[in-house]
Amino acid sequence: MKNILETNPSLKKYRRTFRKAKDDFELSQLTREEHIPVEIHETQEEGCKVVAAEIAALIREKQASGENCVLGLATGNSPVKVYKELVRLHKEEGLSFANVITFNLDEYYPMVKSSVNSYNHYMNEVLFKHVDVKPENVHVPDGSIGRDEIKAYCKSYEKKIDEVGGLDLQLLGIGRTGHIGFNEPGSHSNSYTRIIALDDITIDDAAEDFGGVNNVPKGAITMGVGSIFKARRIVLLAWGSNKASIVRKAVEGRISEDVPASFLQRHENIKFVVDIYAAGELTRVKTPWKVGSCDWTPNLVRRAIIDLCEKTDKSVLKLTDKDYNDHGLGELLVLYKSAYDVNIRVFNDLQHTITGWPGGKPEADDTYRPERREPAQKRVIVFSPHPDDDVISMGGTLKRLVDQKHDVHVAYQVSGNIAVGDEDVLRYLSFFKRFFQEQYKGDKVVEKNYNRLKEFLQREKEDGEVDLPEILKAKGLLRQEEAKSACRYVGIEKSQLHFLNLPFYETGKVKKNLLSQVDVDIIKELLREVKPHQIYAAGDLADPHGTHKVCLEALFLALDQIKEEGDAWLNDCWVWMYRGAWQEWPIDEIEMAVPLSPEELRQKRNAILRHQSQMESAPFMGGDSRVFWQRAEDRNKETARRYNKLGMAEYEAIEAFVRYIP
Ligand code: F6R
Repeated sequence: MKNILETNPSLKKYRRTFRKAKDDFELSQLTREEHIPVEIHETQEEGCKVVAAEIAALIREKQASGENCVLGLATGNSPVKVYKELVRLHKEEGLSFANVITFNLDEYYPMVKSSVNSYNHYMNEVLFKHVDVKPENVHVPDGSIGRDEIKAYCKSYEKKIDEVGGLDLQLLGIGRTGHIGFNEPGSHSNSYTRIIALDDITIDDAAEDFGGVNNVPKGAITMGVGSIFKARRIVLLAWGSNKASIVRKAVEGRISEDVPASFLQRHENIKFVVDIYAAGELTRVKTPWKVGSCDWTPNLVRRAIIDLCEKTDKSVLKLTDKDYNDHGLGELLVLYKSAYDVNIRVFNDLQHTITGWPGGKPEADDTYRPERREPAQKRVIVFSPHPDDDVISMGGTLKRLVDQKHDVHVAYQVSGNIAVGDEDVLRYLSFFKRFFQEQYKGDKVVEKNYNRLKEFLQREKEDGEVDLPEILKAKGLLRQEEAKSACRYVGIEKSQLHFLNLPFYETGKVKKNLLSQVDVDIIKELLREVKPHQIYAAGDLADPHGTHKVCLEALFLALDQIKEEGDAWLNDCWVWMYRGAWQEWPIDEIEMAVPLSPEELRQKRNAILRHQSQMESAPFMGGDSRVFWQRAEDRNKETARRYNKLGMAEYEAIEAFVRYIP
């Protein structure tokens, strides 16, 4: 099936947050804080094409002079699209890998090659089996060798690289710990291929692939920093905002063992290729006024003032001309006459984002309100990627919309079945079986099937084994019942709930299918049925490979197609994006802030608690031991605290939204 996202050239134009970031990115190309050349691309796809083109050119150049091309390769999410493009170049443009010799950076230890989680398997799937590289030219560390052989094995791996003349080009990703290869913090600049223990953060990041933290191998065999350094050319890839802070440390920070990637500052032929999200913390992107003169858009002014408040520990209205001058914002004083003028402007801007009427306040002057007042009763669809994101991320707002008499629908985009633990489903099946047995004197069919399913649930699963279809069904139903219960609590009727069960998700595995038109059509149908005045969606665009991003893109595609097909109702439809469970919008981007009272926050917690299966046994919780309601509360309270620190009224909690204009 074709990936519809890649065939849709107009997708880019939807990305409002992205556009905003890009505006800012174009403001300043000044890189004086950066000690490594960084190339920023609008999208990961674009960056990967550029890198693949460089690799292809190198392979061809070596071919032309009758030489081998020795490539150091990385695994993980970052290079997937580079390999995809290389495969395309092989299939469509005759790029041959006959002269290519590859050495992979690393492999988990212990790890058998045949495991779906091994890097050996990964490399075959994404590259080797699709191109004409000679099997004997491919080297991926073997994670299955005996412990006493490791030392000699590592030495010979290193030697083999030297024997073929060293690496012409090394491709790298970067871990959130700053690791390159699996050289975790503490690795020396002159370390070579060896076995190491994985950092807890790295283990957390791999937990999803392995179906839980406990299944991730604790070690790895990795090329060292010194081995990487010997490469004649290094290209490091980073995508998504979860890499932004480590990219900044590696590029702008001090060279230190604490951030192994910072050693790369000493390499003479290196570049980082990143997208705008991974570049988000670089000085030239985040605080461009610190590296040069700026084109002061209202958004940038707001961001600079909020940053200044944080630096000076002051609220907006207390900032003085001296604060501006001391922190490189003197230019603003020239443009706006005085700190007082800028302060008032930003203060009002922030104040106008706050509303207790997320659906608009009937009969009020709406000039400075985030939402329009008409129509007084709006049709609303809240798109919730999984069956709990609605209440986790906007439970308070959801209840307000219902209480303020809007016609609220909730659309659950995916079933969320793989996030239900076996024990949870077993408990319900057991209840169901006993109830039928005891109440209706036994049904043999129920009992027979129950025993079969129980046996499956209690058996140890094999690597990559998928649940039986009936179990996936049961898990999906369980989540539907939880969502129904949460919505009953909030006051939304069953008839207003839509379980879309988008097919791209239904693999039974962490790895999903590509998004297709079938998914988009399901969303279009619902949109056309309801014709909403307001849409809420989880705006997790920066998430490089998650379900939330795919769900959002499916919605954006649906809106785009509806727009092209000329549906008039869309002109009167506003889209608000909330953030998923993991992070909040930066304060300077928030366009609607809905305050919650202590009582509303308690109600929100109760609604979240209805999603019982997600309370303790959700397999993908990573290292954060807080459960969902705690995270939601901490985050909403933190937003309120930050608003308050800027000089706004003191609220118990705030839910935040950014508007997206189709
Ligand atoms: C993989 C490797 C690692 C990854 C890094 C980033 O061979 O050596 O250093 O490059 O962990 O992983 P992703 O790309 O999955 O974010």
